[in-house]
Amino acid sequence: MERLTLDTAKCMSGAEDGTSLTPKMLERLAPRLEGARRAVVDAAGTGMLGWMDLPGQDPAPYLAFAAQNAGRYDCLLVIGIGGSALGTTALATALLPFYYNELSPAQRAQRPRLYVLDNVDPDETAALLGRLDLEKTLVNVISKSGTTGESMAGYLVVRERLAAAVGEAALKDHFVFTTDPTGGALRRIGEALGVTMFDLPPGVGGRFSVLSAVGLVPAALTGMDVRGLLAGARDMAEWTERAEGWDNPACLFAGVQYLEDTCLGRYISVMMPYSARLRDVADWYRQLWAESLGKETDRQGQTVNVGPLPVKALGVTDQHSQLQLYAEGPDDKVVTFVGVREFSETVTIPAPGPEGEALAYLGGHTLAELLWAEQKATAWALAQRGRPSLTITLPRVDAFSVGAFLYMLEMAAAIAGELYDVDAFDQPGVELAKQATYALMGRPGYEALAREIE
Ligand code: PA5
Repeated sequence: MERLTLDTAKCMSGAEDGTSLTPKMLERLAPRLEGARRAVVDAAGTGMLGWMDLPGQDPAPYLAFAAQNAGRYDCLLVIGIGGSALGTTALATALLPFYYNELSPAQRAQRPRLYVLDNVDPDETAALLGRLDLEKTLVNVISKSGTTGESMAGYLVVRERLAAAVGEAALKDHFVFTTDPTGGALRRIGEALGVTMFDLPPGVGGRFSVLSAVGLVPAALTGMDVRGLLAGARDMAEWTERAEGWDNPACLFAGVQYLEDTCLGRYISVMMPYSARLRDVADWYRQLWAESLGKETDRQGQTVNVGPLPVKALGVTDQHSQLQLYAEGPDDKVVTFVGVREFSETVTIPAPGPEGEALAYLGGHTLAELLWAEQKATAWALAQRGRPSLTITLPRVDAFSVGAFLYMLEMAAAIAGELYDVDAFDQPGVELAKQATYALMGRPGYEALAREIE
C-alpha cells in the first residue's frame, strides 16, 4: 500500500538569520526527539496509552452489530461532544459519499443517514429532532465519562421523544451507548434499559478515540471500510514505532511544529487540506493539538503556559479568506498543506467558446490539476515571503490513508507532548468551566460555587 509523504523543504530556507529552521536546529533537537519517541513507544502495551493498541484490535464486534441491524434504521443519530463527536464527523466527511444523507435508501445500500449532534443549541436540536423519523432512528450516545452534561442533556431530550414515539419497552432497540466499561451515569442507564453498549477502553482519551468504538461503531453502521481504517493505522503504527528521529513522519511533524513555535515564535499551526473530504480532519486536528498541548504546567508542576494554536483552513476556499493574513500578517504561523495525489472523480474544465477567450488557459485542465496548482502556488508564494509550510500528501482519500493519517497525528501529538514536557492526555483547563456550569444548573454539591459566580 502506498504511504503518505511529509515534505518539510519549505520550512528550511537555509538562512541562518533566525527566521527559518536550520540543519543545526534539527541536529540539536534530534536526541530529545528520539527520546520523546522512545518514551511514547515504550508506553505501548502498558495500558497507559490505550489508543496505541487500537490499530491492532479486532473490529468484528462493530461489524457484527452493523450486520445485525442492517436495513433496520433510516437514521443514525450520534450524540457526543469533543473527542466523542469530532472523529466521527471527520471520518464521515472523508469516507462517505458527498451528500450522503441526500442519497436514496437504495443508493445508501439501506444504511442509515448520519447526523451528529455535538451542541446544545435549542434551535438546532429541535430542528434535527423534527426531521428524524424516530421510529426508524438508532441513537448512539457516546461519552467516555458517561457524565458530560451536554451529551447527557442531549440523551435526556432524545429519550423523552423516543419514549413517546416507540414506547418505553422499545427504547433499548433505539439506543446504543459507547462509554467507559464500568463508571459513569451512562453505563448505569444502559444497564437499566438493557441497551447494547460498546466499551471505550481505559487509556483512550476522547481526542485519541476515533479508532475505538467511538468512531468505528458509526463507521460500521454507515458502511465505511473499518478494516481498511485499522490497516492504515496499523501500517502507520509499525512505521512510527520503528523509524527513528527525523525519519519518522510523526517525529518530523511534531519536531518541526515544536521548533517553529518555541524557537521561531510561530505558535499558530494551520492545517489546510486541499481536499474537501479532509476538511473535518482539520477540525479534528484542531482539538487534538489544542487540548493535548495547551497546558498551564509541565510535568514537574512548573507553570509554563505552553501550547501552539491550531487553526483549520481549507484550500482553495480559504485562499480567498485567510491567505492574505498568512502571507502579510504577523509571521507567527506554520501552514501544513494536506494534498491528495489521486481523486476519485475526474472533472475536466471545458474550453470556453469564442466569447470566453480570456479563460482559455483553464480549458482542457482538470479540476484536480487546478487544485494541485493552487496548492503548489500558495506554498511557493508563502515561501517567497519567508513564511514556512509543510506538505503532507496522501495517495488518495480512502480508509487506509485516512487511518494512517489520523494515527500519525495522534502519535505526533503524543511526541509533541513529550517535547513540551506536558501531559498530552489530560485537560484540566476545561474542568473549572464544567464545574461552574454544574453550579449554574443547580447540581447538588455546587451551591457555594453558584453563589461565587452570581
Ligand atoms: O478529548 C477529550 O477527552 C474531550 O474532548 C472529551 O472527548 C469531551 O470532553 C467529551 O467527554 P466525554 O466523552 O467524557 O463525554
